[in-house]
Amino acid sequence: MERMDRRTMLKTMSMLGCATGCLASGMLPGAGPEPALAAPGGRFAQKDAPFSWKPHMLDAKVCAPVAYDGYWHQGYGCAYGAFYAIVGMMGEQHGAPYNQFPFTMLEVGKSGISDWGTICGALLGAASAFALFWGRKDRDPMVAELFRWYEQTAFPMHDPGPAFKGVAGALPTSVSHSPLCHVSVGRWCQASGFAEKSTERGERCARITADVATKAIAIMNAKQAAAFAVAHGDPQSVTYCGECHNPGKQSPLLKGKMDCTPCHSGSPHTADKFKNHP
Ligand code: HEC
Ligand code: HEC
Repeated sequence: MERMDRRTMLKTMSMLGCATGCLASGMLPGAGPEPALAAPGGRFAQKDAPFSWKPHMLDAKVCAPVAYDGYWHQGYGCAYGAFYAIVGMMGEQHGAPYNQFPFTMLEVGKSGISDWGTICGALLGAASAFALFWGRKDRDPMVAELFRWYEQTAFPMHDPGPAFKGVAGALPTSVSHSPLCHVSVGRWCQASGFAEKSTERGERCARITADVATKAIAIMNAKQAAAFAVAHGDPQSVTYCGECHNPGKQSPLLKGKMDCTPCHSGSPHTADKFKNHP
């Protein structure tokens, strides 16, 4: 048998695999998974965002209290609150199609997605709202601005005034350095002394839901006015560590854009300037 390099072998194997399934579906064998290739039977033919849904300007002063209320409403939580404060409010002010959205779908984002403590649900809700109106080329910088701002800001800021649902008065603040629910909540509990299951922690997250909605609306309004600008750049860890761990560098193992320091503070690189990062 002729010697085959790995690439040729893989190609041949995919052709053999295609002989049964792909011919039936009208795909040419050996054509390969080129991104431009139309999927069989018109699958995935739906248009990318932006869909026919057009964004509208929103008043964050009106929407932030709605985000706060949405958090407490039926215990639906942060993702629902942030998303409703944006898309729900467009529905209340402009009707269809916005008011047709099944908003309770966003309840899944609560507590970092069904209590898993992964991404902060308020960020998930806001980024999902962006995605209804902007494709990834426009949206990615908007998401980055929102997430970096979240990493770097001392929360909570929103003042519910006499309308508070949880606890009244000012709450302690903390900077998460992370978009993750687990890190954000954990650091606040440590800084404030309140337990994760405390009413104060719930109140803190309700106020952060309003804070995130406010920032997200500012980003969306600026985008619509062609005035969107990035104000929160990458932290030092991301640029520094990326010098060697980004794609194409000497140790190209890094996935994602999160600030590295919450998780790699005791860095593997001993002489590292981030070693003693809090
Ligand atoms: C000057 C280049 C360079 C910089 C800057 C750098 N690294 Fe690395 N890092 C490496 C190399 C090389 C390895 C060895 C892994 C390999 O063989 O691919 C490594 C390994 C690691 C590992 C794997 C654990 C280990 O001990 O092998 C982690 C985690 C890591 N780096 C995180 C970081 C973080 C976080 C930063 C920023 C604080 C950072 N690195 C900055 C070059 C670098
Ligand atoms: C939310 C926590 C978290 C954040 C944020 C994070 N990492 Fe990691 N990273 C991990 C964990 C956990 C692993 C897997 C470690 C393991 O099993 O060895 C990992 C793995 C890695 C590895 C693969 C090397 C290895 O063998 O572990 C590199 C390189 C790395 N991280 C660099 C970075 C850099 C650079 C950043 C910031 C741009 C970053 N990480 C942000 C938690 C994190």
